[in-house]
Amino acid sequence: MKQTIKDLLQIPIQNQEVSVKGWVRNERDSGEVAFIVMNDGSTPKTLQIVVDFNKIPREQVAPIKVGACLHVKGKLVASAGKGQDREVLAESIEIYGLANPNEYPFQPKKHSLEFVRENAHLRSRTATFGAVFRIRHTLAYAIHKYFNDNGFYYVHSPIITASDAEGAGEMFQVTTLPLQNIPKNEQGEVDFKQDFFGRSTNLTVSGQLEAELMALGLGKVYTFGPTFRAENSNTTRHLAEFWMIEPEMAFYELQDNMDLAEDFVKYVIGYALEHCAEDLDILEKRLLDEEKSKKQEERSPMPLLEKLKFVTQNPFERLTYTEAIEILLASPYHKKKKFQFEVKWGIDLQSEHERYLVEKHFQKPVILTNYPKEIKAFYMKQNEDGKTVRAMDVLFPGIGEIIGGSQREENYEKLKNRMEELGISTQELWWYLDTRKFGTAPHSGFGLGFERLVQFVTGMGNIRDVIPFPRYPKGAEF
Ligand code: 4AD
Ligand code: MG
Repeated sequence: MKQTIKDLLQIPIQNQEVSVKGWVRNERDSGEVAFIVMNDGSTPKTLQIVVDFNKIPREQVAPIKVGACLHVKGKLVASAGKGQDREVLAESIEIYGLANPNEYPFQPKKHSLEFVRENAHLRSRTATFGAVFRIRHTLAYAIHKYFNDNGFYYVHSPIITASDAEGAGEMFQVTTLPLQNIPKNEQGEVDFKQDFFGRSTNLTVSGQLEAELMALGLGKVYTFGPTFRAENSNTTRHLAEFWMIEPEMAFYELQDNMDLAEDFVKYVIGYALEHCAEDLDILEKRLLDEEKSKKQEERSPMPLLEKLKFVTQNPFERLTYTEAIEILLASPYHKKKKFQFEVKWGIDLQSEHERYLVEKHFQKPVILTNYPKEIKAFYMKQNEDGKTVRAMDVLFPGIGEIIGGSQREENYEKLKNRMEELGISTQELWWYLDTRKFGTAPHSGFGLGFERLVQFVTGMGNIRDVIPFPRYPKGAEF
């Protein structure tokens, strides 16, 4: 296999011939020699190339500026310079592509994240985004590893579906009907019978319902794929297209579900800590820098690495929704009317409430259970009290809700009645109800928002900065 910069930084230094391909991060002409700093994405680190003008004429080197792509051949030698143990003495340089410094957006100075976001198509070449996307990769790998090592099967739920898994109506319609002259029925409604699938279809909002079908046969399964929500949320925590990890387990009750969720997130964060130390270091430094310009009360109480370690080493706080409401009502924030939204039993907790619990009250991740049934989805198992369901949300500092899940209603009659109460078609979801009709079983599952996890681990404040190609309202440029 071809050697990357990562490989070249690890092999013994023996004045041997090497070949380096990558992009220029920095360059400097010091009179007799030029120094070119290169990175190829394989590592956060760079490799310095030394060009002796006696060997390679200055005219050939002069047009090489930040952003250019090169193929350098030369000798790997020990470096006397500070901050590196090796460098490459160039013998030949092939220029794959130049980058005009008057046009190339990324110069070797600090750019604001807003500026980088405007140039998102080139951002994989920056140190910060290189780190973010390598960590994203490692987390995805750790997720598959965790489930594989624990006897789960990876199942692929469909992207095009006919159902609304969350019953929230936030779907993107999928159609091949011509935009002009959309066929309508006698009532003036769009006639999807003439559409590709002969019915109305949409992009999936969650793979849960299909995962349930698979779990009630395979035992323990998980999905990991893109999900789509047409919610008009312009926040730093919402995307219209995000990736979700959804484990679903037969014979798991709410308690088992919580235990799994906690063990799982601790494992994947621990895996990143162990395998992404250099990238995390870059991000921690960036954050510490950013913190300096913040007011004291807005600063994070812990540096990134300490925060990640803390989460992997301490038990999450577990309490019910009702207990959480009592804490919020007794809080100085409530008494001083600092919450924007009213606190009372039955409300859908707002992010200010979740963040109060996690960041101010407990100062650690929290699992809230047994929410009012009115604010949760139709499929959650109903409690004896007739008011609450066996839901669980995992809340993280700086993020808010990172996981949403529940024990599922396995009783055919109860599920059917709840669907009817909420106006969810039992005819359309006949296949879902069938699982309760034939060999029903207690089961549970949850969904982890992958980008919110990546945000937590990288410390990035905006969710649009942790997915290579973010999709959001009025944002789908490429
Ligand atoms: O709480 P949600 O809506 O739950 C479900 O979809 C369930 N079907 C999951 C299950 O039980 N299998 O979403 C789960 C998680 C949230 O906690 C959040 O982390 C993330 O998905 N999420 C989003 N992430 C980014 N952008 C959005 N618009 C998101 N909506 C939800
Ligand atoms: Mg939720």
